[in-house]
Amino acid sequence: MNIPFADIKKQYLSISDEINNSIQEVLNDTAFIRGKYVERFENNLSKLYGINHCIGVGNGTDAIYLALRALDIGPGDEVITVCNSWISTSEVIGQVGANVKFIDIELDNFNIDVNKIETKISEKNKSNNSCSFIWSTCKKYGFTD
Ligand SMILES: Cc1ncc(COP(=O)(O)O)c(C=O)c1O
Repeated sequence: MNIPFADIKKQYLSISDEINNSIQEVLNDTAFIRGKYVERFENNLSKLYGINHCIGVGNGTDAIYLALRALDIGPGDEVITVCNSWISTSEVIGQVGANVKFIDIELDNFNIDVNKIETKISEKNKSNNSCSFIWSTCKKYGFTD
């Protein structure tokens, strides 16, 4: 039996009119870079998360890179992350000149093993690069600063 990891077609079909109309609206306005649609997205996401600022970027890799730069992470710093994340997570740490410090995952949920974070923190650590789905676990255990 084949059990799909995620049925994105089903997800798409459940809101296809909304997606198609939105894409058509952007095409009609030829608003491909920034503009009112990006601004609307940034405002809606800010409201959703109750934060003052949200900046739309081209992709997840850029988002992590810019987050590290905003935190002033660079040469001589270490960033803790996991090795089972997408390559971008580690790649951008090197891109800003910092060093990657891997931590094991928890085998029952594949998220970062929060009990091992503290053991790896050194004076060179400014960030725990726990992106996307890992974030919720870190928040649960108080590793959000
Ligand atoms: C955890 C994680 N970080 C970063 C990325 C990179 O995102 P993008 O392909 O939009 O650059 C991905 C993409 O799958 C991801 O899963």
